[in-house]
Amino acid sequence: MSVLVTGGAGYIGSHTVVELLNSGKDVVIIDNFSNSKPEVLDKIKEITGKDFKFYEIDYLDREALEKVFEENEIEAVLNFAGFKAVGESVAKPIEYYVNNVSGALVLLDTMKKYAVKTFVFSSSATVYGDPETIPITEECKTGGTTNPYGTSKLFIEQILKDIYTSDPTWNICILRYFNPVGAHQSGLIGEEPQGIPNNLMPYIVRVAKGTLKELSVFGNDYNTPDGTGVRDYIHVVDLAIGHIKALEKLEKEKKGLFIYNLGTGNGYSVLDMVKSFEKATGKKVEYKIAPRRPGDIASCYADPKKAREELGWEANLGIDEMCRDSWNYIKDK
Ligand code: UFG
Repeated sequence: MSVLVTGGAGYIGSHTVVELLNSGKDVVIIDNFSNSKPEVLDKIKEITGKDFKFYEIDYLDREALEKVFEENEIEAVLNFAGFKAVGESVAKPIEYYVNNVSGALVLLDTMKKYAVKTFVFSSSATVYGDPETIPITEECKTGGTTNPYGTSKLFIEQILKDIYTSDPTWNICILRYFNPVGAHQSGLIGEEPQGIPNNLMPYIVRVAKGTLKELSVFGNDYNTPDGTGVRDYIHVVDLAIGHIKALEKLEKEKKGLFIYNLGTGNGYSVLDMVKSFEKATGKKVEYKIAPRRPGDIASCYADPKKAREELGWEANLGIDEMCRDSWNYIKDK
């Protein structure tokens, strides 16, 4: 029996494959390398000393996907094949809805055909929109997403709820990620955004390296302790381990629909991140205060209690490790 990982060569997918292999699972990866590189697959083997099956296919290609289900005994599916750039999604809504929503539907329909009903879905804290209360619990209202990326996550969550209502023998876990950062401790895999990064940590590391001149801090007049935006940054390895715990939960429960926040519960401001990075790496990060970025909210951090109580999962790596590993991955590139 194998776990099928879509987008397994990507940032969060690759770290999760490492943890799956380390926990003794057989893994089948599919990826079309739309936002990842084939070398990542060798790095995963190097880190784990283990092998896995790989298919270079697009998960929208139903025929190719069916072949994967024919040729392997799939017990569960983890879906990391979504597009994830917020700004790009505003410019390319059709591409985002086709890839994220239609892709998920092709995958779920194929799973149904082959009677595979265990599914872990990569959702996002973005489904909470501008949260009513902080820290954010799983019971907080969802909706009010401000871009097609976020809306695609919301739609897929609804689709999963509808599937579960229609057939309660499905076994589904929705994981709402907060802000993933960091890289594997080996320095072999990490995040490699194409072009100029939109997210804070990839931008900071490039300023530290000298590839980019200075960080623009988007707004210092928010209602937060230092006026800059507060987020719940989580180390990607902790996030990956959250998926192993989610799979264990599904194996135990056999059926159900479960939703968990994967965050640390700690909120750090943009300036906290700059200072922590400088302290952890000894590198200077030049910055200037710039206008607010449209669509940004002041504060967003998780209440991680439900995942702790029901999955026995909590984040172990702190801000120092997040900064150290982000830098370690990029510094010699
Ligand atoms: N920021 C800057 N300068 C930059 C980049 C970011 O000041 O150059 C600030 C933002 O204004 C924000 C914080 O850093 O206050 C974090 O911004 P990111 O772009 O790193 O992350 P977001 O919180 O905006 O978005 C992230 C993911 C989304 C996900 C969302 C969930 O990118 O995929 O978290 O809350 F949906």
